[in-house]
Formats: sequence, C-alpha cells, structure tokens
Amino acid sequence: MVVLLPPLLSQLSLLSLLCFTFTLTSITSQTTTNIPADYLKLQLLHTHPFPFPFPSPSQALISSDTHRISSLLRHHTKLPLTSAASSGSGQYLVHLLLGSPPQPLLLVADTGSDLIWATCSACRNCSSRPPSSAFLPRHSSSFSPHHCYNSACQLVPHPESTHCNRTRLHSPCRYEYTYSDGSLTSGFFSREKATFNSTVEHHSLSFGCGFHVTGPSVTGPSFNGAQGVMGLGRGPISLSSQLGGRFGNKFSYCLMDYTLSPTPTSYLLIGGSKNATVSRRMSYTPLQTNALSPTFYYIGIESVYVGKSKLRISPSVWAVDRLGNGGTVVDSGTTLTFLADPAYRRILAAFKRLVKLPPPSKPTPGFDMCVNVTGVLKLNLPKLGFRLAGGSLFLPPTGNYFLDTADGVKCLALQPSTSSTGFSVIGNLMQQGFVFEFDADGSRLGFTRHGCGLP
Ligand SMILES: *[C@@H]1O[C@H](CO)[C@@H](O)[C@H](O)[C@H]1NC(C)=O
Ligand SMILES: *[C@@H]1O[C@H](CO)[C@@H](O)[C@H](O)[C@H]1NC(C)=O
Ligand SMILES: *[C@@H]1O[C@H](CO)[C@@H](O)[C@H](O)[C@H]1NC(C)=O
Ligand SMILES: *[C@@H]1O[C@H](CO)[C@@H](O)[C@H](O)[C@H]1NC(C)=O
Ligand SMILES: *[C@@H]1O[C@H](CO)[C@@H](O)[C@H](O)[C@H]1NC(C)=O
Repeated sequence: MVVLLPPLLSQLSLLSLLCFTFTLTSITSQTTTNIPADYLKLQLLHTHPFPFPFPSPSQALISSDTHRISSLLRHHTKLPLTSAASSGSGQYLVHLLLGSPPQPLLLVADTGSDLIWATCSACRNCSSRPPSSAFLPRHSSSFSPHHCYNSACQLVPHPESTHCNRTRLHSPCRYEYTYSDGSLTSGFFSREKATFNSTVEHHSLSFGCGFHVTGPSVTGPSFNGAQGVMGLGRGPISLSSQLGGRFGNKFSYCLMDYTLSPTPTSYLLIGGSKNATVSRRMSYTPLQTNALSPTFYYIGIESVYVGKSKLRISPSVWAVDRLGNGGTVVDSGTTLTFLADPAYRRILAAFKRLVKLPPPSKPTPGFDMCVNVTGVLKLNLPKLGFRLAGGSLFLPPTGNYFLDTADGVKCLALQPSTSSTGFSVIGNLMQQGFVFEFDADGSRLGFTRHGCGLP
C-alpha cells in the first residue's frame, strides 16, 4: 500500500528528521533481549480468498481454481476504488506478538508505508479474545501511549485540530495516517512490547493503536483477516527503522508464488542474509531518495525490454522530478504493478505487437490485454525486462506479469498509474520468486532468484 505524503512529515527538514530518528532510536533501544540473535525471521503468509459470495460475483469466472480467481475478482472489485495503487488481495501477512502477555496479531507486510499499526479495542474485560480480532491495550501491562509532547509523537501525522497540552499528565499522542486510496487509520501512537521468535526476543516498538479505521484497503474483505499493517518503509517509525540498528539496517524477503500447490513458505528476515552464496549472487541497484517522500524505496529504471526490443521510454518517465513527483517504488503491499502512463502504453503496445494469440471471447474487466491460450502446446510469451540504475537487469519470469484469469485465459497484469503524481509501483506479484534485500545503510536494493526461503 502506498501511503499519502503525510503533510507534517513533508514539511520537516531532513535535519529534524535525522534528529527525530535519533530520539526514536533511543526510545526503542530499551530492548530486553535475552538471547541475542543477529537476525529475526518471520514467516509470511499469503492471504486466502475471502469468503463466498464474492462482492460482484461473476459466475463465468468461478472455475476450479477458486484461490486464483477470487484474488482476481478482488482486483476487479477494487480497481475502480483505488488511486495510485490497489492493495488487492495478494497481500503477504506477518505475525507479530504484541503486549504483556503477548497478543497474536496478523499484519500486512508493507514496504510502501512506515507506520506499524493494529486495530485496537478498548474492551476492558474481554474474557475470551476471539482470534483475528483487535489488539486489547487494557489487557496488556506494558501498553503505554506516547505523550503528545514526546519527540516520538512528532514523527506521526496528527488529525487536524489536535493540540497538545504539555503540562497535562494524560495527553496521549494522536495520529492519523492516510493511504493513497483515502483509507485511514487513527488512534494513539503508543509504545508496546513486541515478542519475536516465540518468547525469546523482546523489543519495545512504537505503534499506532487504531481506534478508527476506514477505507477499502484497510477494512473489509480486501484486508482479509489482517488486524493492521507492518510498515517497512524507510521512515523512522517503520519496523525496519525501529529495529534496524540492532540488525544492520537490512531486511529481506522472498515472496513465493502463492499459486503453487502446496504453497511454499515465504519469510521476512530482519537483518542481513546469512547465506554467503545468496549474497554473492545478488544484483544491486542504488536506492534513490526523495526528501518529500522519505517513506519509499525508490529505484531507477534505465530501460525496458519486451522480447528482444528495447522500448523508447525516456528515463524521466520513471524518475522523481524537481517537485518530488513521479519515481518508481518497490512495494510489497501492492499486488499488481502500476506504471507511469507513457511507459504503460508503450509496454502494452509492444506486447500486443508480439503476442499473436487470439483474445478471449469476452473481455476481462480491469485488464487491457488478455489472450486465449487454450490448446497452445508451447506457450512462448515475450519476456519483460528492466535495466535498472547501476546496470543490473531485473528479468522476472512471465508468471510475474501474466495472470491466469480463467481456464485458458492469461492477462497482462500491468496497470497504468492513475496517481496524480504519476509514480510507478513495482507490486508484489512482480517480485515473486526473488530474494529482495533492502539495505538502508548501503542505500541499495539487492535481488536474486537464488536462495528463496533460505536464511
Ligand atoms: C530463536 O530462538 C532460539 C532459541 O530458543 C535461537 O536458537 C534461534 O537462533 C532464534 N532464531 C532467530 C531467527 O532469532
Ligand atoms: C472480568 O470478568 C471476570 C468474569 O468473566 C471476573 O471474575 C473479573 O472480576 C472481571 N475483572 C474485572 C477487572 O472486571
Ligand atoms: C493544561 O492542563 C493543565 C492541567 O490539567 C490545565 O490546568 C491547563 O488549563 C491546561 N491548559 C490548556 C491550555 O488547556
Ligand atoms: C478459446 O478458444 C477456444 C477455441 O480455440 C474456444 O473453444 C474457447 O471458448 C475460447 N475461450 C475463451 C475464454 O474465449
Ligand atoms: C546457501 O544457498 C545455496 C543455494 O543458493 C544452498 O545450496 C546452500 O545450501 C545454502 N547454504 C546454507 C548454509 O544454507
């Protein structure tokens, strides 16, 4: 999911951001780690299809593979609602144990936003907390809202009309965080104990206790059982930044192809890769920064290939402009890939030129290019490749950008970017089957097809 530019943060100078980062680090360094480990390994779960009936059921689409189909329907039902990026159904969820005693939470792993938040309930004496419900701060002895005057509170956007009474003892830090489709979470920015690796590692985390949660990408079926979001962005309040210092300011994941059966396990690893073979085989591209949008992992695209031809797309189409608009971000919380309009049109035209297969009898809503592959013995779809800044080549398998939408029908899973600022988003489907390593200190993004699922 792509977060909207929090107006407060965008006005801060880089210097004050650095200063806040320091203060937050000093807060979170109060960890009580019993057994030091140099990495944390968290299992990533792929969301399951939401229950029948579908919101806009299309009986023709319901085939044997309901998993795939339902995720597609989700894209369809969401497309008209979303702006820059659809959160879609294809989310990867991560377990987090929060509070004392620990309460299990399932959060969307999202490199496109910073805030860690969970839906909260003020329930005072809930004898049985139903699974997949809210976090109950009153059931935790370690919960503590930040004071509104606390420097940590300066790191989150506040609702309008918030004022802070410095001398009042109980004046909790209010936050209001908005995603690009207008979805919103607000509540109290708080401190809480997080437990990793069953019970052996504890870290103090600042997170949003969300009492007010609205919008299509954070509620209802599209949220699919998640209770919140684990922001993994570059800003100081993300999980990776808060825990970063302890783990070399690196994290990595490999999103496995969830259409495989049985579904392989994906992991989110906080800390560097432990496998020298994997590290050696990594290709790198520099991470670019945008002072106006410190959350995102921007990469540079130099050129695009479809089949053997290099497309004529000006590198400026992919780049952040002088006003801080545009750019290309890598986002685990967005399913499909959204490309700036001029790039999208050229890539679509190139595929249409090269793919000689007939279209299906009926168009598939939400996709500009679909083909009927029924009876095709050896399917040979053109390869899509991105030459990245620094010269590395990102060459995803065709399954990362051609989706099966029905028996014998494949659709090009790219979308034109509809955001007003025209930025491009490399979504999680495009990232499948690669280890991606986000290295903040080295300011680079590593990727390799080797060693998925290895520590
Ligand atoms: C988890 O904890 C065990 C000790 O119970 C430790 O040996 C192991 O290294 C830890 N794993 C991670 C990934 O932190
Ligand atoms: C919570 O509820 C239980 C019974 O369900 C009761 O015995 C207990 O006293 C209650 N605690 C508080 C703090 O209200
Ligand atoms: C701030 O809180 C103090 C203590 O509760 C109170 O006396 C004071 O009037 C408050 N100030 C404002 C501006 O609300
Ligand atoms: C695909 O083409 C075959 C004939 O080759 C046809 O029988 C089938 O109905 C077509 N499927 C779609 C979805 O258009
Ligand atoms: C490292 O990764 C390679 C494959 O890329 C694998 O063959 C090897 O067993 C791994 N080593 C360890 C220690 O996990």
